[in-house]
Amino acid sequence: MQFKKLALAGLGFAMAAAMAACSTPAPAPSTTEAPATDTSTSAAPAAPDFTKVGIVLSDASQPRWKMAEAQFKTAMPGAQIMYSNNDTSVEAANVDSFIAQGVKVLIINSIDGAAAAAETDRAAAAGIPVIAYDRLIMNTKNVSYYVTFDSVQVGEAQGKYLADQAKASGQKGLNLYLFAGDVGDNNAFLFFQGAWSQLQPLIADGTFNVVNSPQATQLKDTASLSRDQESQIMGPITTLWKPDTAKTLAETALAGATKAQKGTVYLLAPNDQTSAAMTDAFRADKDVTTIYSTGQDLALASVQYILDGKQSMTVFKDDKFLVQECVSLVGSIFAGTPADTSVITTTYDNGTAQVPASAAEITVVTKDNVEQVANDSGLYTITNGQVAQK
Ligand code: GAL
Repeated sequence: MQFKKLALAGLGFAMAAAMAACSTPAPAPSTTEAPATDTSTSAAPAAPDFTKVGIVLSDASQPRWKMAEAQFKTAMPGAQIMYSNNDTSVEAANVDSFIAQGVKVLIINSIDGAAAAAETDRAAAAGIPVIAYDRLIMNTKNVSYYVTFDSVQVGEAQGKYLADQAKASGQKGLNLYLFAGDVGDNNAFLFFQGAWSQLQPLIADGTFNVVNSPQATQLKDTASLSRDQESQIMGPITTLWKPDTAKTLAETALAGATKAQKGTVYLLAPNDQTSAAMTDAFRADKDVTTIYSTGQDLALASVQYILDGKQSMTVFKDDKFLVQECVSLVGSIFAGTPADTSVITTTYDNGTAQVPASAAEITVVTKDNVEQVANDSGLYTITNGQVAQK
């Protein structure tokens, strides 16, 4: 229901923007240029001028951000998008270039939440509100909004999937391999926190035996980890969100494992790209017979892996939701009105401030519903068990 409302609001803006671009320019001077954008002098409330929105996305090699880009292009016609190539100095330069251009709102999907504070402060000094996109920007009071899914819930879904499979087996001493996202990304901690809440009781009671993390084994009786304890566990098993790093971590874990620690394995894989790289490494080991693995993002390759039985689950986080939230927030920022209370429903502590935030819906995907979710997503079509980009 919430989505419908947002989608309609977004559609309204998009239509208004399209109409502004196409209709005879009655109030504006008749030039071939787009109508002037000085809203302070226009009589009627104008549709948001998305050309005054700068969007900085972290990494084009991650399917997730290509999905976001596609949604931004549809819902915010004219908004400018720059990629940071997973390099924090490029990200800072992108932000500075948008500040120099005089954008009116910045939407930043940061690479490293702490590193992004300085550029956020520069934007604020120039009077530009910053919306953190999917990843929280840390340790600054200058994040106006944070649009996000509930990342703890994402991790819980991953952990619960593995826990359910383990419980169903009725066995003890099952082989659990833990991997984490990028420790520079606050989300990675939230995902791990959620997963740990589901896995820890089963590690503590001996259902799972953690093969590749002595730190996790040592903390097995700690139900709620501090950030420091999470860092201790996650540091050695961070994939940095990179498939190559994930593959190396998986190979190293397998090289250090006994035959008994292979057989049926349970992999906490943080996202689809790293999951695919790791399951490839595990499948290449002849002593591994069955793999239960997690993921998130509904990346094309993982949709195929789920159809083929090579990846067990993923979590779909539809960027359409976050982008529609951005459309609504940009609209209220431009209009000088408070954010829609159906969009901003919660807050996140970024170490310095409580940042007003959203909580978009997630969908848990397994072999049972992958075809329907993928088809309904508007991103893919599945024909005869083969997925294709739409
Ligand atoms: C996270 C994001 C995930 C995943 C990952 C890698 O911050 O929430 O959906 O894609 O980054 O880019």
